[in-house]
Amino acid sequence: MSADLSPIDKAKFVAAKRACDFVEDGMRVGLGTGSTAAWMVRCLGELVREDGLNIQGVPTSSRTADLAREVGIKVISLDEAKWLDLTIDGADEYDANLNLIKGGGGALLQEKIVATASDQMIVIADIGKQVDALGGFPLPVEVIPFGWQTTKALVEETLVGLDVLGQTTTLRMNGEAPYITDEGNHILDLHLHRINNARQLSLVMNQIPGVVENGLFIDICDAVVIGHGDGRVEVRDINAGTVEEDKIDFLENENLFSDLTD
Ligand code: A5P
Repeated sequence: MSADLSPIDKAKFVAAKRACDFVEDGMRVGLGTGSTAAWMVRCLGELVREDGLNIQGVPTSSRTADLAREVGIKVISLDEAKWLDLTIDGADEYDANLNLIKGGGGALLQEKIVATASDQMIVIADIGKQVDALGGFPLPVEVIPFGWQTTKALVEETLVGLDVLGQTTTLRMNGEAPYITDEGNHILDLHLHRINNARQLSLVMNQIPGVVENGLFIDICDAVVIGHGDGRVEVRDINAGTVEEDKIDFLENENLFSDLTD
């Protein structure tokens, strides 16, 4: 089965697998959303089932909650956990300072709340997510449905005064209807191409009435685990200033791949 995975899926898998080394018995762990985070949830599930790892997971979306329960992870709410030891999540982009764009999967609001309520946030990603400047990936902004067109106009007006290359905004759709987040909101995708001052943009966006949260994660991520298609992984820790390299053997993980065909 592992041979059937694309190089990108292999890269996502090895990043997810390596990040599970940071999870210790008794931890309360934030579980991210997206295809890379789904690998991490499966890997953690295997550790729970086969090695007796005892953790409590706080999911960042209904999708992740369903998967976590399916693979045997004990799921609790953030209010039950109150504070988390660690959150592991994917990202759409990360820069050299480990600032991120997230929300491509529509779960940015819960992801940001959960990551912020954690002692440590680790991002898992394939090398393709690395950028010199954020903004190539459209920036998701969660807005409440009431008056969303007015909010969109205000967002566009605000962008005129900011240091970005593009200013087009689009309402995210799910087929013919607007996309609805787990919190019942809509998402505007901001096609900015390059964000020259992400901190300023994030602060200014969140001042607009109707905006709930934006997908810029500034000074939240502590480390990134970067996967490569050949099994190599790199762990960059921004606080310690360290870079570690490792290699994951796909053959040792055959069980996980065969689980997918069940
Ligand atoms: C979900 O809302 C996002 O923030 C994801 O974490 C991000 O889109 C990365 O997803 P993939 O791991 O599927 O690329």
